[in-house]
Amino acid sequence: MKILFVSLGCDKNLVDSEVMLGLLRDKGHEITNDEAQAEVVVVNTCSFIHDAREESIQTILEMAELKKNGTCRLLIVSGCLAEKYRDEVLVELPEVDAVVGTTAYDTICEVIDKSLAGERVRSFESTDRLPLVETRRVLTTGGYSSYLKIGEGCDKHCTYCIIPMLRGNYRSVPMDYVLEDARKLAAAGVKELNIVAQETTTWGKDIYGEKRLHQLLRELCKVEGIHWIRLLYCYPEEITDELIDVIRTEPKICHYLDMPIQHSSDAILRRMGRRTSRIELETVIGKLRKAIPDITLRTTLITGFPGETEEDHEDLKSFVRKMEFDRLGVFTYSPEEGTTAEKMAGQVPEELKESRRDELMLLQQQVSAKKTAAMIGKTVEVLVEGRIPEEGVYVGRTYRDAPEVDGYIFLNAQEEMISGDFVTAEVTGADEYDLTGDVIYEFTK
Ligand code: F3S
Repeated sequence: MKILFVSLGCDKNLVDSEVMLGLLRDKGHEITNDEAQAEVVVVNTCSFIHDAREESIQTILEMAELKKNGTCRLLIVSGCLAEKYRDEVLVELPEVDAVVGTTAYDTICEVIDKSLAGERVRSFESTDRLPLVETRRVLTTGGYSSYLKIGEGCDKHCTYCIIPMLRGNYRSVPMDYVLEDARKLAAAGVKELNIVAQETTTWGKDIYGEKRLHQLLRELCKVEGIHWIRLLYCYPEEITDELIDVIRTEPKICHYLDMPIQHSSDAILRRMGRRTSRIELETVIGKLRKAIPDITLRTTLITGFPGETEEDHEDLKSFVRKMEFDRLGVFTYSPEEGTTAEKMAGQVPEELKESRRDELMLLQQQVSAKKTAAMIGKTVEVLVEGRIPEEGVYVGRTYRDAPEVDGYIFLNAQEEMISGDFVTAEVTGADEYDLTGDVIYEFTK
């Protein structure tokens, strides 16, 4: 069958999509991007917040049109929306032929077979299950960079978050499996691994009795062909001295840490069910910067959490000024059905959430401009990601830039380069988020 696949939501969901694509390819199906030719469409959905659900439903409805006007015979919905609304999807969206839960994505081939035989399939497993699939993923991220998922689910139960309901409690992917996945990716040409999970820092605790991310990283550094390893979704309270040490000493590990903290006011952190206080956050950030002076720190914040007062917001502003994060994403609080926070008193009006977010982003713009300006004159390694022919420049990322969420460096080069090359460049200019530079000399790893 010719299969069109649409992946929505986060990078963890994207890894599930790539595994499903691998299984479909192994079974002899053909993957297509051509809507007019697709015989089966799979939409791997997100259900994190209202807007993500809207996008998922909209995409399903658009794809449903292909059943009326094209060659499409089956429409399958998988992922987080399917998990949460497992009963409603088949009833409310009659065009959908099958639903597949977040821990049953490895059944995708059987689901297609049964659906072709006329069954309306519901494929779900317990949210405690961890599918460990032996396949080569079909990479959708350019061939030289990939996400490596080391865990599933989350035990933190922050009061605003529905992830544990959609993905279950935390399960570490065993070391051997992670290493095998990394080796297969390296063999396929991947040079940058971005380590993901709902949270990466407690990796190992459930299966080995202790946190072992530092050990896993040391093993990953031994995988031939991998040049950059980048850590995403680290929890501040779980950052250990061993972890800081491995980032500091292993040359392949980028001096980069994504550490979502959400707020700084102790009152709000408590209501959010977070396990840190402002002083603890400041301490861990200080420790990271002392040990690794050139570390790039990324975080995310939420404005307008229930009960957030003007004083809490001022606390957050002073924190952003003081901590000077290199990268910052600010989101407005979204009340999610089934969460504790949804029922909390003191819900904040939408406009206030937005104006507080805008204020923080404005503050951050100044911080970011200062940080990028400080890069001018420095020599950096760059992963080339493509060329902008109209401007005659190449575009790439430094160790400071995670794919999709951070900035770029625009490069002048004398010789041709291809995506996936690593080059060394001198930074010659900067705006708030991006850099410009000249290639000094070229080499391919
Ligand atoms: Fe969305 Fe599910 Fe990821 S809710 S953000 S796709 S874990």
